[in-house]
Amino acid sequence: MINDIKKILVTEQQLTQRAAEIADEIEKDYNGEDFVAISILKGGFVFMADLIRNMKSNVQMDFMVASSYGNSTTSSGKLEIKKDTSIDLNGKNVLIVEDIVDTGRTLSNLKENFLDRGAKSVKICTMLDKPSRREVEVFVDYTGFQIENEFVVGYGLDYAEKYRNLPFVGVLKEEIYG
Ligand code: IMP
Ligand code: MG
Repeated sequence: MINDIKKILVTEQQLTQRAAEIADEIEKDYNGEDFVAISILKGGFVFMADLIRNMKSNVQMDFMVASSYGNSTTSSGKLEIKKDTSIDLNGKNVLIVEDIVDTGRTLSNLKENFLDRGAKSVKICTMLDKPSRREVEVFVDYTGFQIENEFVVGYGLDYAEKYRNLPFVGVLKEEIYG
């Protein structure tokens, strides 16, 4: 598996340190208020695990499987929810935990979805961001690292359901796509 990697973009140590920093920042910002951290599966689970183990407050957790597909009629496309949350989000502060923000479709749709369900607030945190790929504007509250427009794997991110377990973020060799 490791032989398929061309270069490492973000090391395991950088990811660990950044997750701890972001966890601190988030807790300071909520200032003692309760919140629900919702990880977007599958990719978001690694960051979620790092994040919440650095938190000292009573954080609730939930998981969701959702993605967005673009279409010609609406710029942000349609949100497809394959697995929904089980906690009632009405009146809750929601923190969305994502692996990467790419076009922004998924997050923009999710934010709207949570607000429709009566969430008191919705914040977004992501370990990675590819700002050059954005198609739909979405405010990201907490970002680990901004990266160039390259397809990356590891730290939860996959190519054909592989490489999610790599402890770093890396770029695949071209021949793997072929
Ligand atoms: P978007 O922001 O709605 O385009 O969707 C972002 C989602 O696309 C992420 O949560 C990932 O699942 C997937 N994705 C985007 N860029 C990459 C990448 O470089 N590697 C692996 N998955 C990616
Ligand atoms: Mg994802």
